[in-house]
Amino acid sequence: MPMTVHRPFDPLGLPAPDAAARAHGERVLAMIHREIDAAGGCIDFARYMDLALHAPGLGYYSAGSTKFGAAGDFVTAPELSPLFAACLARQVAEVLAAMGGGAVMEIGAGSGALAMGLLAELERLGAAPERYLILETSAELRERQAASLRQAVPAAVDRVEWVDRLPDGGFRGIMLANELLDAMPVHRLLRDSSGALLEACVRREGAGLEWGVREPGDARLAERVDAIVAGLDPVAFDSGYCFEINLAMEGWLASAAAALESGMLLLVDYGYPRREYYHPERRAGTLMCHYRHRAHGDPLVLPGLQDITAHIDFTALAEAGWQCGLDLCGYTTQAWFLFGCGLQELAAQRMSSASTLDAAKIAQQVQRLTLPGEMGEKFKVIAWRREVAIAPSGFALRDERYRL
Ligand SMILES: C[S@@+](CC[C@H](N)C(=O)[O-])C[C@H]1O[C@@H](n2cnc3c(N)ncnc32)[C@H](O)[C@@H]1O
Repeated sequence: MPMTVHRPFDPLGLPAPDAAARAHGERVLAMIHREIDAAGGCIDFARYMDLALHAPGLGYYSAGSTKFGAAGDFVTAPELSPLFAACLARQVAEVLAAMGGGAVMEIGAGSGALAMGLLAELERLGAAPERYLILETSAELRERQAASLRQAVPAAVDRVEWVDRLPDGGFRGIMLANELLDAMPVHRLLRDSSGALLEACVRREGAGLEWGVREPGDARLAERVDAIVAGLDPVAFDSGYCFEINLAMEGWLASAAAALESGMLLLVDYGYPRREYYHPERRAGTLMCHYRHRAHGDPLVLPGLQDITAHIDFTALAEAGWQCGLDLCGYTTQAWFLFGCGLQELAAQRMSSASTLDAAKIAQQVQRLTLPGEMGEKFKVIAWRREVAIAPSGFALRDERYRL
């Protein structure tokens, strides 16, 4: 972890924020400075990431900037193409049919693009859910989701309900999320030259922020590292090796598992099985920031104005699911999942009635969703079932659970 003083964003070649964004960024920085002072001079990176992304009214997801799509900072699969939601709708319909009905709960719905696509497609399939629940932590995004859904699917909007938390139990149906886990705060760790485990923290540096290191603040971190090292060959984590641990994801999965009485939990996100995640050559971890479609690796610039993410260790996620008593029923790449749900047929149908230009756009969307160098391999789909006898179509063509 570099101990260097944080520099302004311009050396990264990022576009300058406008005056309103700069003023917002200064408020976020002042709030983070106050937290650092109150904590005695430094906060761990997970706390910093949580504040920068989720602090009510100030964090990146809680405040009003355009995040998704061409005018924002990044594009997600449901934003990129309605085909993503159309494929997912087939998987949802299959689960609801196997259960004889049930609800859908989407967690972290962003702009509402996936909800719009799913509701419209499920209606078309004659498989509308009893209720479509949305759990969204950002009050600002909830408002945007409601406005978009009222406009796009007025006939289905009565079925949509926003909830504040996962239920304590009793949920029947399918719970799903796209790119939720990568936005959860992660701890950042490194090994120093003596082999000691250190945790990255964030400190004030004049008007900005800088990295520091200290002993890990949470005893679970060292436990996780020991367990990871024990199972890896070749072992990474030598001097200078820097990596993330996502404890929040484990806690969230336990709550989701407790909520699910029967049905399926299906998550889409980017990441790798542990062997690839903690590969000896991945020496700088997986933190990635997005600002106006520029990806870079410095989370200490533009707090509150840029997205900060970390890839998912899908082995850790599978282990957490196993500990909660969930039955892992599939793990594959996004490409194979979408093909399993009928992407090629769906695209062909739409192209057959489209203009030449629109058909070319659809073909391009399919490529972006599925090509290995695009979203096809980096994104994975993982699913667990409970009290439902189903072999999900999304994993029928290729199921890679053996890789976890
Ligand atoms: C990267 S965005 C993905 C948005 C959307 N699913 C998509 O694919 O376009 C992450 C979303 O998760 C929400 N979020 C983050 N943490 C959450 C949590 N613990 N519970 C519910 N929503 C959360 C954010 O506010 C945001 O809507």
